[in-house]
Amino acid sequence: MLTEIRRIGVLTGGGDAPGLNAVIRAVVKAASNSGIDCIGLEDSFDGLIETDRSRMLTPRDVTGILRFGGTILGTTNRGNPFAYPVQTSEGTHDYSDRVVQMFHKMGLDAVIVIGGDGTLAIAQQFCERGIPMVGVPKTIDNDIVGTTTCFGFDTAVAFATDAIDRLHTTAEAHHRIMVVEVMGRHAGWIALHAGVAGGADAILIPEIPFDIEIVAERLLARDRWGAKFSIVVVAEGAYPKGGAVSLIEAAHGAYVARLGGIGAQVCASLGAVTGKETRYVVLGHLQRGGAPTSFDRVLATRFGGKAVELVKCGQFGTMVAFDPPDIRARPLEEVVGKTKTVPKDFDLLLTAKALGVTFGDEQAERPVLRASARVEQV
Ligand code: F6P
Repeated sequence: MLTEIRRIGVLTGGGDAPGLNAVIRAVVKAASNSGIDCIGLEDSFDGLIETDRSRMLTPRDVTGILRFGGTILGTTNRGNPFAYPVQTSEGTHDYSDRVVQMFHKMGLDAVIVIGGDGTLAIAQQFCERGIPMVGVPKTIDNDIVGTTTCFGFDTAVAFATDAIDRLHTTAEAHHRIMVVEVMGRHAGWIALHAGVAGGADAILIPEIPFDIEIVAERLLARDRWGAKFSIVVVAEGAYPKGGAVSLIEAAHGAYVARLGGIGAQVCASLGAVTGKETRYVVLGHLQRGGAPTSFDRVLATRFGGKAVELVKCGQFGTMVAFDPPDIRARPLEEVVGKTKTVPKDFDLLLTAKALGVTFGDEQAERPVLRASARVEQV
């Protein structure tokens, strides 16, 4: 028998992504129109650990937030209640019992958890403890399995493409190689899409360890046929064959490793091998900021509406997912702990290769155009 749903909680966890506010707005409005109260839980699961970190959200509170980046609820990627970072010799503390007690004390019937793989895994653990939760997948990296796309990805790709467009003109003017480092810890979705959309000549992704000599040779070939500039897009998680991922800070305690530096490395190596002037740019958190694109606003709104529908139907332990053209429910247990990487036979990757883009894994298969081979004007 279905329990009547009167009051739900909503939280955002992990790194922010454009569209979080659009999901919160959709959840609050859809819930309210069904006579369900909505409690906003602040800074991820902190809102269920501490007594003063939650507030009632009415449609009035979410009016106008559709177009804003960030999250009105705040977020953290270090708030796992099962292993919460503390200043003791243990390093972490298990607050999961407190979360269960708080859930009941607050009179909640369910929680909608908006987050990436780590946050969804926490939701899954609480579902196993009998706390009804529904997940909404979020990541600009687009690496959550079970959903074709996450909101935030389109915005990140649009921003990175705009940045590449701007770098193109200065690269061409100075006959330089410009290297752009984009986000993507385990998967090269942003690099691949922004690279293709921006007309990059080399795209380096975590799925394909690269050989810098192969990349350099492709860029020098461009020089030989007259294009004396090149654009290289590198995902932060890309690494050279036989090498390792470049870190700003290694993982420690409850802190995951901070990736970064591969753009600078590739830039220096390409400069040394090609003898050309090279520059690099790290787009970093700019990709997570700003207003969501219309695509992400619509997807986020669909996710929020569907999450409330699943709560009303008692379909807990699930995650909403984009399965074009539909939004469906997927069991959380089938999704968490996995990573959706770019398949080696993905059509966009193969098309990019067919167009002459190098991924640093093989020599050019197409004949290189020589200046003399240009069509004569008549
Ligand atoms: O997972 C999304 C992501 O943007 C990664 O691409 C990146 O490595 C990470 O978040 C950065 O997180 P933080 O905000 O902790 O620096």
